[in-house]
Parts: sequence; C-alpha cells; structure tokens
Amino acid sequence: MSNPIIINPKHIAIIMDGNGRWAKAKGLPRAFGHKKGMDCVRLTVEACSEKNIEALTLFAFSTENWNRPEEEVGYLMKLFLIMMKSEAQKLNKNNVKLRVIGDRNRFSDKLKKAMLDAESLTKNNTGLSLNIAANYGGRMDITKATKVLCRRVAKGELNPENITEEILQAELALSDLPEPDLLIRTGGEKRVSNFLLWQLAYAEYYLIDSYWPDFDKQMLDKAIISFSLRQRRFGKIL
Ligand code: IPE
Ligand code: IPE
Ligand code: MG
Repeated sequence: MSNPIIINPKHIAIIMDGNGRWAKAKGLPRAFGHKKGMDCVRLTVEACSEKNIEALTLFAFSTENWNRPEEEVGYLMKLFLIMMKSEAQKLNKNNVKLRVIGDRNRFSDKLKKAMLDAESLTKNNTGLSLNIAANYGGRMDITKATKVLCRRVAKGELNPENITEEILQAELALSDLPEPDLLIRTGGEKRVSNFLLWQLAYAEYYLIDSYWPDFDKQMLDKAIISFSLRQRRFGKIL
C-alpha cells in the first residue's frame, strides 16, 4: 500500500508542558526538566525547518507562571537569556526568523536586549517563523488589542460600529501569520492554559501524555500525520 500524502500544517503551536513532572519522576529538581526541555526546543525547531513548516509558536512562559516560586522563575529567566544569546547565530544560519510574543516589561534589561538583538539579527530571514511566547497570555493579548482599538475610537479615527473581527485580529499577536492549524500539548493535560485563545479557534488539537523533555521527532511526525487525517469543516457540512 502506498503511503498517504501528508499535508503539513502551516503553523504549529506547542504547549511545552511537563518539565517539572519529568524531573520529579527521575528524582531531580524541576530545573533539570526545564534544561532538558531546551534540547527539545532545538530539535523541534530543526525538524520544523526541515519540513518547511511556515510557523512554529512555542509557549515558554505564561502570564500566570510568575506565580511559581521565585527560584524557579529566576531559573527560567536565566535559561531564556542563555537561549537568546547562544542560539541566535544558529537560528540565523538556518534562515529562521525569531520573534518573542508577550509582555517584556517584567523582564530584565539584559533579557530584553538579548531578545531584541536576536530578533533584529534574524528579521530578514525567510525560512521558519519561530515565535516564543514569553510572559504571554491569550487574555492579555485580546485585552491589549481592545485597548488599541479603544484609543482609536477615542481619537475619532474609528467608529465602534465598524469594528470587525478582522480589525481586532490585526492587533493581536501573530496576525501576519497563518492561524495555528495544529496545537500540540505535551504533559497529559487537556486544557489551553490561556495560550492563543483567539488564534486557536479552529486549530486541531493533538494531546500527548509524554512530558515535554521526552518529546522527539517521531512524536512530531505522529502529530502531523494525525493532523493530516483530520477532516476540517469550519462549521460547514462537507
Ligand atoms: C512547562 O513545564 C514549562 C513551563 C510552564 C515554564 P512545567 O514547568 O509546567 O512542568 P509541570 O507541568 O509542572 O510538570
Ligand atoms: C502552560 O503550562 C504554560 C506553558 C507551557 C508555558 P502550565 O503548567 O503553566 O499550565 P497549567 O498550570 O497546568 O494549566
Ligand atoms: Mg505544567
């Protein structure tokens, strides 16, 4: 039997969950799970580039993750800084365009600068669009967009009656990219945890019990095959 034709998603979004439990199961501190998780980020970026996927958006830190112990938050910030500094050249070499989405105000000046540097180094690249969601929340994203439109209304530039879904969407993160069509969540939970609430409206969900630090190319392939077999109806009857 011939292999079915695989249709790649255009935009894969991933909730990289289960780092802490992965470490705990091995009797290690949670930080080890986060560190090992970085290797999986590298391999996923590589695999998506090889498959010519247009965009990959990774949930790295939610607006709610500040509520974790200071030590864990501090460690995650340290990892972000290392990642931004050490990976930028490699991403650039691989034609990857990096963008960080979320509110950066709470990050250190050093981290803000490293993010800007990595983004500007890779801004003209034409390969995979890699978006890292850091201090990102879907509700925050929609709230910010609403504020932008309200300011325009207040200035008299926009009539509230003329606000459409497209006008609001244009102010949301990733509005210049195709909507995520495949959402992968590792770690066994079956929830969206305030990720791209608007943008995921019609994404296909693929939930994996394995923890993020065990994620590999085979799991990615399986997710893409599963996506490829889905019948997407968008509310219509086929
Ligand atoms: C995901 O893994 C990484 C972040 C949220 C930063 P977790 O740290 O949530 O790991 P679990 O879910 O507690 O195992
Ligand atoms: C979602 O994981 C956020 C990230 C993966 C960055 P959480 O571990 O924070 O989500 P909950 O608390 O299980 O919903
Ligand atoms: Mg978690």
